[in-house]
Amino acid sequence: MENTATTEIIDVTVIEPRLKHPTIFDRFDNLKGGESLIIHNDHDPKPVYYQLLGERGNIFKWQYLEQGPEIWEVLITKLNLEAGETVGELVAKDFRKAQVFKKYGIDFCCGGKKSIKQVCEEKGIDSSKVEQELNALPDTATGNETDYASWEPSFLADYIVNVHHKYVREAIPALYEYTAKIARVHGSRHPELLEIAKHFTNVANELEAHMPKEERILFPFIKQLYEAKKNGVKLDAPAFGSIQNPINMMEMEHEIAGNDMEAIRTLSNDFTLPADACATYTVAFKKLQEFEDDLHRHIHLENNILFPKALEMEKEVIK
Ligand SMILES: [Fe+2]
Ligand SMILES: [Fe+2]
Repeated sequence: MENTATTEIIDVTVIEPRLKHPTIFDRFDNLKGGESLIIHNDHDPKPVYYQLLGERGNIFKWQYLEQGPEIWEVLITKLNLEAGETVGELVAKDFRKAQVFKKYGIDFCCGGKKSIKQVCEEKGIDSSKVEQELNALPDTATGNETDYASWEPSFLADYIVNVHHKYVREAIPALYEYTAKIARVHGSRHPELLEIAKHFTNVANELEAHMPKEERILFPFIKQLYEAKKNGVKLDAPAFGSIQNPINMMEMEHEIAGNDMEAIRTLSNDFTLPADACATYTVAFKKLQEFEDDLHRHIHLENNILFPKALEMEKEVIK
């Protein structure tokens, strides 16, 4: 919630008519991201809304504090688009944003530590277009998306294991078979299928080695940190030193798995089926896409939510 106590109130009723809008615009332009102003008026200032939207774009929030009949007050907040909030943080707050990033091929899990501006610059995308789409998502907090960021870290760790690790383990054997089969049957006409099968074997091997490390070492330690924090107990530093060390290792492994999945996406031309695709071909691509989706969410929950929480807890809890 914005701090309205220090917010400037512009009484529009006492401003000379021809200066009303320019004054509001001038004050708005001087706001930094996240700052607000209030306009006080004797009628609905909706025309200001449209003018602001048209001339400055979708970079503000418009909230009525009073809606007549005598007094109208609107809190206008400039959105915090330049504060360098990272793509990962944005998705952690509202997972629906992942759809927009996906559409533009922006990596929100492994590469989630960059701001929108940075990633757009790197990819040669118009960042204002992406920001506009992000802001166009209906203002209903997180919609139907689960608010993972509010979960207790221990619960989140269990959830990741029970949902995502379980999914990966169940999906691997079938995908292994499908990718091998389509490479064998269609590889001569579609040589990229041989490459896809290789990349999938890599991902499968990487994840099968990666997940037990989380399950046996990192996640149990995160749960210990959480218990200690809850009970106000201080812990000795663990054998691996700072938790930053295993986290760096896990993030590096995420990156490698993510790169293999990205290669599969590129090789398959975004999972586009050729005209001669058989049923197995179709199922393989559908499953690969589902696997990629799940992996993105899985890595996002770890890199952008669980690991930052663990690092915070470590600061409080380790002697
Ligand atoms: Fe994991
Ligand atoms: Fe992981």
